Amino acid sequence: MNAVSEPASESRSAETDAPLILALPKGRILKALGPVLERTGLFQDGSAIGEGTRSLRFPTLDPKVDVVRVRSFDVATFVAHGGAQIGVCGADVLMEFDYPDIYAPLDLGIGGCRISIARPVGSAGEDNAAASSHLRVATKYPTITRRHFAAKGVNAEIVHLHGAMELAPTLDMASVIVDLVDTGSTLKANGLRETDVIAHVTSRLIVNRVALKTRPDAIRALIERFRDALQEKTA
Ligand code: PRP
Repeated sequence: MNAVSEPASESRSAETDAPLILALPKGRILKALGPVLERTGLFQDGSAIGEGTRSLRFPTLDPKVDVVRVRSFDVATFVAHGGAQIGVCGADVLMEFDYPDIYAPLDLGIGGCRISIARPVGSAGEDNAAASSHLRVATKYPTITRRHFAAKGVNAEIVHLHGAMELAPTLDMASVIVDLVDTGSTLKANGLRETDVIAHVTSRLIVNRVALKTRPDAIRALIERFRDALQEKTA
């Protein structure tokens, strides 16, 4: 028995003593997120998050918060399944999966890009890809794509890829693609042109709804740290 026992209201179970897990995406969002993470006080150098370690989970400057670094699409899955209580991912991922267990309290205003339709430069066909009633579309967003074309009365046959979908039209796998566009240089380098924007995208802070109920103080405090970090930037 402990010499000093905590009052019942302050006692914590082994589970709630565990660090919060913050899931961060690899790649371009993490790069843009670096300065925000520095201002939260979680990292001293936001440009070197996780560098120098092969470990996928690592500590932050706050002993109550650990980070896991996963693929952008998987951030939402880790948070929805409770492996991570909080995370950062693009609104594109939230649109694609629409997890009911995820609450997205904060638009971080970084990682701005768009989900667009693109087709080969000089290809026959209308600028509006929805002019035909059946279309083969290469994408990593099957749900968003189906939903978008269905609303226009077009039956989209999906060729589901996880990357390099810009190759699909020139290799006769699809007539158009639906993909993220930022600078447009990937489309250009692969002979494609953007014809329609489906949605504009920024990165969101996301939270597991159950964790928000079971660990409200810790999670709300972390949300506030992100909110303050954003305000600090605009101040
Ligand atoms: C995205 C997207 C394009 C590229 C567009 O891929 O799938 O390939 O970025 O960016 P741009 O308009 O600036 O050229 P990302 O780099 O996120 O990698 P991914 O293939 O792992 O999704």
